[in-house]
Amino acid sequence: MQHRSSLRLGVNIDHVATLRNARGGTHPDPVAAAQLAREAGADGITAHLREDRRHIRDADMVRLRAEVALPLNFEMAATAEMQAIALDIRPNACCLVPEKREERTTEGGLDVAGQEAALAAYIAPLRAAGIRISLFIDPELHQLEASARIGADIVELHTGTYAVLSDRDAALAQLQQAAVQGAALGLEIHAGHGLTFENVAPIAAIEQVVELNIGHFLIGEAVSMGLAEAIRTMRGHMDGART
Ligand code: PXP
Repeated sequence: MQHRSSLRLGVNIDHVATLRNARGGTHPDPVAAAQLAREAGADGITAHLREDRRHIRDADMVRLRAEVALPLNFEMAATAEMQAIALDIRPNACCLVPEKREERTTEGGLDVAGQEAALAAYIAPLRAAGIRISLFIDPELHQLEASARIGADIVELHTGTYAVLSDRDAALAQLQQAAVQGAALGLEIHAGHGLTFENVAPIAAIEQVVELNIGHFLIGEAVSMGLAEAIRTMRGHMDGART
């Protein structure tokens, strides 16, 4: 049964593929996990096809698009290779992220302001193909303004710094302010990275945020409580913060 809420939950299934790749076989299957996430109330699936294919692989993206009846958010670096794959797969959205080979996970936001013209040209064919453009940025006004200028549909605010701090007030205030500023610029506001049962509520409570993308923690909790229960519990925290 699908849960309806004004705050959507996108489930990132990258680390199901990490586990699969640890043994080089086909189990566990990220596409099966995406189906399960859908049944448990996810509103979308996110998958990051990294240049080094360390978790999600090309064939996973094809199957996610073909077999899972949920919007697909294709996370990718702004490279020619990824653009060609996205134009072939036609996901609902492309979320552009900075990518470094040596990083464990996406470490910072995309510097949209520093490469405005190049990104505008990069997203043009994707937009022409009807793919929504999401930019994963730090909660900074100049990045929001640059994102709006190049015609992005969505910004996903990087919550990674907020998530790891013990004193989160300043980081939260920055995210709240960016959500207001971004919405005023006409951008759809998403947020994600490092979110857990413990830290999700203040982010879910930000009125302008319409979607959270959450991965590693949910897959981690799946080990103990199962993926469906982890998703339902996360939804409970999100909905509770919204009321
Ligand atoms: N959003 C973006 C753009 C990301 O790069 C990631 C990590 O792949 C996430 C959300 C999910 O972060 P986490 O796995 O920490 O929940």
